[in-house]
Amino acid sequence: MAKDSQQRAQADAVAKSLLRPARLSLLADRLVFFGCGAAVALFLYIALYSSLTPIPFPDSNPSPPLASHASTQPQTPLPDHPSTISHLSAQQNHSPLLERQDEQPSIPTPQNQTSSSSSSSSYDDDPPTVSSKPETTPLPKPSSRSFSRRRTSSTKRRRDPPKAPPNPPPGDPQNSTFYDDPDLSYTLDRSISDWDAKRHQWLRLHPWFSATPDRVLMVTGSKPGQCSNPTGDHLLLRFYKNKADYCRIHGFELFYNMALLHPSMPGCWAKLPLVRAAMVAHPEAEWIWWIDEDAAFTDIEFRPPFDRYRAHNLVVPGYPYMVYEERNWIGLNAGVFLIRNSQWGLDFLDSWARLGPQTPNYKKWTKLLHSEISGKDSGDSDDQSALVHLLVKDIKRWGNKVYLENSYDLHGYWEAIIGRLDNITERYKRLEKKEKELRRRHAEKDTVGFGGTREWYLDREVGMGPAERKKRRPFVTHFTGCQPCSAGHNPAYTWESCYEGMHRALNFADGQVLRAYGFGRPDINNISSVQPLPFD
Ligand SMILES: *[C@@H]1O[C@H](CO)[C@@H](O)[C@H](O)[C@H]1NC(C)=O
Ligand SMILES: *[C@@H]1O[C@H](CO)[C@@H](O)[C@H](O)[C@H]1NC(C)=O
Ligand SMILES: *[C@@H]1O[C@H](CO)[C@@H](O)[C@H](O)[C@H]1NC(C)=O
Ligand SMILES: *[C@@H]1O[C@H](CO)[C@@H](O)[C@H](O)[C@H]1NC(C)=O
Repeated sequence: MAKDSQQRAQADAVAKSLLRPARLSLLADRLVFFGCGAAVALFLYIALYSSLTPIPFPDSNPSPPLASHASTQPQTPLPDHPSTISHLSAQQNHSPLLERQDEQPSIPTPQNQTSSSSSSSSYDDDPPTVSSKPETTPLPKPSSRSFSRRRTSSTKRRRDPPKAPPNPPPGDPQNSTFYDDPDLSYTLDRSISDWDAKRHQWLRLHPWFSATPDRVLMVTGSKPGQCSNPTGDHLLLRFYKNKADYCRIHGFELFYNMALLHPSMPGCWAKLPLVRAAMVAHPEAEWIWWIDEDAAFTDIEFRPPFDRYRAHNLVVPGYPYMVYEERNWIGLNAGVFLIRNSQWGLDFLDSWARLGPQTPNYKKWTKLLHSEISGKDSGDSDDQSALVHLLVKDIKRWGNKVYLENSYDLHGYWEAIIGRLDNITERYKRLEKKEKELRRRHAEKDTVGFGGTREWYLDREVGMGPAERKKRRPFVTHFTGCQPCSAGHNPAYTWESCYEGMHRALNFADGQVLRAYGFGRPDINNISSVQPLPFD
């Protein structure tokens, strides 16, 4: 009993905080409602209240025209400041809500009802679907159901026990989508056609997931079993925490997978079927961002410049000359990439997977790649040389849509980075000592905005040339060759240097995360070292 009420109180608190914007818009709606003429309102209210039995849903409530939200094309320029972004999405979310309520005079507001008590009691009854939404997801539009419930509870003025969610769930239109097509497959062996239209249709039916140019699902993962390296699991946990931190701060979603989705595509190939499945599972995501489990975000404030990638469908760290002229297999790195959720993306994954170990031609591909790709003269066909091969072979079809990013460390090679971290820390500290604005506290949600301020000072003090970049925090530090889980590290490095490097990078990143919580890590070599920050 006590547990029940505790749970209810918790759910209530979450629902209240999530629903605050909805209540604001309700209030706004009410103003519009009454502004339009109290007589009309009263008439409608009486007419509807007396004639309408509880509103069946959602059939009786056909979806409003949703075209404005359906576009997968970036429409509004991407604002630099994150708070502007959230503002924008809040607006995008709210205006149709108001329009929709205007169309729905069946939602009277009893005049002697105090909004706070009635709304909280009705929201109490809402199933946990709302509160389980990730914080970054824009609030779903209230369906007719939530309003009819609201009215019921304000009439009855009592708390019903939580009910099982009805079928279909609120706001989920009954139109069939690609999910109902038995021929559409999550796996790579059956290609999907017309994906952009299918995704579009789904988005029209779920406009609250409007595809903004920077709606990202980050995908990463590790092997199903325990690590053979005794410290491997702890390291993977730290790498995972780092990604969770980064995604929370930037409003991205994160999927960590530990299942091998295609039995013949292990190792570096395992991400292909996973990214493919993620596209189908997340039609709302504009980008699927793959990142290897052994890569860490070491500049927590940095956000990729999504507006730069408008005309591109794949963003990979790399150097055009090394890829297209030298055909060098280290001209790019396949351990971190962003791929647009699109027909192009699906086709690209299909073509990429055709060079993989699950195909009967695998031996042939290995041979071909050895002769064609420089720097690659041993080992099986790997995903990275296969990627170089694809780009070079069909530059018209693929290459032109691929952005080889090297203006920041989308993939930073750890050995070149780890030694610099102390100097970078010192440089940032000096800058903070000098500039009062960089010693200000801020909410964690404002980390990206704060990063913009820091960027401004860094541009002034440090510069942005290739040499100056080394003086800044590297965005991603990738421990290629370290194999934290399997312990089969590349013999070019010692395990100690890998191990130390990983902890240093992860402490370095965690210190940045802790700043928003009022703490810092004075010694990045010491995992236990933590201190309250003085600020000003
Ligand atoms: C206002 O409250 C009274 C008593 O609580 C109730 O009888 C009446 O029906 C309510 N009026 C409206 C418009 O809800
Ligand atoms: C959903 O189904 C209704 C009724 O069949 C139809 O009028 C409407 O256009 C469909 N909406 C979409 C987005 O397909
Ligand atoms: C760090 O800074 C010191 C002094 O400014 C310099 O001598 C040293 O070479 C730098 N170390 C690295 C790895 O850049
Ligand atoms: C690491 O930090 C902890 C807590 O500040 C401290 O007690 C410990 O002595 C430090 N270890 C080393 C090796 O400096």
